[in-house]
Amino acid sequence: MCGIIGIASNKSVTSNIINSLKRLEYRGYDSAGIATISKKNLNEKKCSGRVEELEKILFNSPAQGNIGIGHVRWATHGIPNEVNAHPHSSEIVSVVHNGIIENSNSLKKKLEKEGYKFKSQTDTEVITLLITKYLKDSNPIDAVLKSLEYLEGSFALGILFKDQSDIIIGARRGSPLAVGYSNNENYLGSDSYALKAMTNKISYLDDGEICKITKDSVEFFDVSKNKINKKILVLSEDKNETKLGDYKNFMSKEIFEQPTTIKNCLNEYIDKIRNDINLYDFPIDPKKINKIFLVGCGTAYHSCQVAKYWIEELTDLNVETEVASEFRYRKIRFNPNTLYIFVSQSGETADTAAALEIAKKNKMKTCSIINVVESSIARNSDWVVPIHAGPEIGVASTKAFIGQMLVLYIMSLKISKIRGNIDDKNYIEKIKNLKNLPQGIENSLKTEELIQIFAKDFLSAKGSMFLGRGSSFPIALEGALKLKELSYLHAEGYPAGEMKHGPLALIEDGLPVIILAPKDKYFEKTISNMQEVIARGGKVLLISDKHDEVINENIRFKIEMPFIDELLNPFLLTIPLQLLAYHVALLKKCDIDKPRNLAKSVTVE
Ligand code: AGP
Repeated sequence: MCGIIGIASNKSVTSNIINSLKRLEYRGYDSAGIATISKKNLNEKKCSGRVEELEKILFNSPAQGNIGIGHVRWATHGIPNEVNAHPHSSEIVSVVHNGIIENSNSLKKKLEKEGYKFKSQTDTEVITLLITKYLKDSNPIDAVLKSLEYLEGSFALGILFKDQSDIIIGARRGSPLAVGYSNNENYLGSDSYALKAMTNKISYLDDGEICKITKDSVEFFDVSKNKINKKILVLSEDKNETKLGDYKNFMSKEIFEQPTTIKNCLNEYIDKIRNDINLYDFPIDPKKINKIFLVGCGTAYHSCQVAKYWIEELTDLNVETEVASEFRYRKIRFNPNTLYIFVSQSGETADTAAALEIAKKNKMKTCSIINVVESSIARNSDWVVPIHAGPEIGVASTKAFIGQMLVLYIMSLKISKIRGNIDDKNYIEKIKNLKNLPQGIENSLKTEELIQIFAKDFLSAKGSMFLGRGSSFPIALEGALKLKELSYLHAEGYPAGEMKHGPLALIEDGLPVIILAPKDKYFEKTISNMQEVIARGGKVLLISDKHDEVINENIRFKIEMPFIDELLNPFLLTIPLQLLAYHVALLKKCDIDKPRNLAKSVTVE
């Protein structure tokens, strides 16, 4: 949930550290800090708030030096203020940390008994003072390795040493850490995204490894101080670099990029000549799979729930879905013929990574559906299926959700074909329908004008309901999540058929209720649920097909969707709900790309 950067160079590092911190702000932005060493002085500057606040401080009081570390924080221990911001420094050591030290309280008590004074409420300061303690009679690497023995929990560390001003030491256990290479300059960072502005040559530390970087060298060691070699990956350049262009924020750019997201993903996986799907590296022969288990968090989990309906519809397989934070503590009966699929945009979500680790410890075959292919979850999976959505900067996930659903859909189709659950004619027809999906999304985006009007109804509302059945139910959940995280208004997604079991009590005059009712097998039932809502004063936005059976003067708005193929309805239904959340948040003047309390990648549990 935090971002760290370290640079050892032959020139001043401050501006590159600041630029990297700005690229890392998606991991947390409630406080920021930097530490550099120049002329044997350890200069630490930090503040609450965003990186631009730190920039203002540095403008008035620069931090000189050719070596330094930086940090953006999403608070876990201690309120987001200057004292608790990273780096945490003693007289001779400065540390930036991403992760949680679970035994920090007991270690703090021990260190205080030995006379060490703490300035902050953070767990990280324990690391600083442990290394300070052991540095008294050993070298930096030994002092770090000795300190790490006492830590329980997760960490990615960047460590500076006042009296060894040419080295930065990094260490990794449970939180991601990458190393970048350049001429007369080397880097340490939470992920490749932090480093990509400076280099595309990257290595990744694995758990239990440490590294020592200088401006001319990079060395890796294991916990026994044995030197190890790491592969240097040359990463692809992000063609569609994260520039805003004519958009006023990343979320609107990423919503309107979705037709292209679909096209790019289809280009990767659909063989237009043979009308087939290019997915071959299944870690289990699809004929031998007896069940599919889908795991994710938040929006990624919603894509798993939609896929459950597709797999049940297209194949003869059982399927189960679970949020990763539950999966990792449940008593799962693992089965070697079950394919465990982990869905994650960032590939760094701690709960999803932990769930994957548990499946691997139980010798299961794993697949991850990922946007950031260099991520920890990707590197830890038997099979990685990228969604090719390009960097998603807005904290509220939009194009990645569409990409996750698309990969899950084509994977379900491919498994169905291999298992003989779908005939050639139907298979080819489904693939042809997919080619119309970008245009379908384009047409759905045209609902924006009506959505903008409906959005006004939310300003005076004390909440809202999103209802759907079948594969529209997870889309109702996703629509409610988008509205919550962007506008800070209460919103609830619910199975339409469940309303009469309690939530109908919430319906009162003027309450906005969004009903997702495509012309599928649930249509009549959902419409009668809608009538129950209208009878109690609900203000209904009905999203349905082009037909006129539904006549009810009390419907506030009706959007007729350009549906293509019933199985593809979830894609098109998602678009107006993304636009609704976006416009309500705009009206409420909320921060669209960085909503309060949230971070793009939740790398702590
Ligand atoms: C998306 O709008 C949310 N911000 C959040 O639920 C997100 O989907 C979740 O944290 C999972 O992230 P991941 O896909 O990177 O694993």
